[in-house]
Amino acid sequence: MKIEPLRRKDIRRCVEIEKLLFPGDSPWNAWAFQSELDAGGCYLAARTEDDELAGYAGLAVAGRPGDFEASVHTIGVHPDHQGRGIGTALLRALLERADELAAPVFLEVRTDNEPALALYDKHGFTRVGLRKRYYQPSGADAYTMMRPARSPEQRRVRDSAKSSPGGTSASARSQTGTEGAAR
Ligand SMILES: CC(C)(COP(=O)(O)OP(=O)(O)OC[C@H]1O[C@@H](n2cnc3c(N)ncnc32)[C@H](O)[C@@H]1OP(=O)(O)O)[C@@H](O)C(=O)NCCC(=O)NCCS
Repeated sequence: MKIEPLRRKDIRRCVEIEKLLFPGDSPWNAWAFQSELDAGGCYLAARTEDDELAGYAGLAVAGRPGDFEASVHTIGVHPDHQGRGIGTALLRALLERADELAAPVFLEVRTDNEPALALYDKHGFTRVGLRKRYYQPSGADAYTMMRPARSPEQRRVRDSAKSSPGGTSASARSQTGTEGAAR
């Protein structure tokens, strides 16, 4: 599995996967993906060894140096590839980018989306709001979740734990070879 910047040529496959994952919640069309790429967010693709696009994820960043704010705009893994760590690898890579910018990260998630809620809980997000009927046309509610910005000191501690002999394995970025996100 490789994590790489999402390319324009991936959009058609993303649209197919969106229709499978978000049938009742206005799946993004090609134009939506195109405008997100044009806006310069950090958009990533997870590819199999056969170069098949198995998942994608995107982070938008607003603000200015010293005061950035990031939002996970989308994350999806094709049903045939779920449950194998791809969503985790994509989210970690987005969070690496947010950490580089010392940005807090926000997102919306359906209140009944247990796999996604479990994923976000594990990565330091907490529920900070409830948006009634956020998703359309389903009318489903969303939680707003937030992961606080990592301070430079927290990053130093984490990075030194990774590089110590007994530390955790390398980050999602180096495990997967991600270099240079889309933005
Ligand atoms: C949410 C999603 C991206 C997770 O991707 P994934 O590749 O399946 O996730 P992973 O294999 O990395 O699993 C990460 C964690 O998610 C949770 N999870 C994954 N599948 C789950 C399931 N069926 N039930 C409950 N929790 C689940 C678990 O906590 C898991 O960690 P664990 O393996 O240590 O138990 C994927 O389920 C998906 O594309 N869902 C549809 C689209 C979507 O809802 N996107 C989020 C919109 S806010």
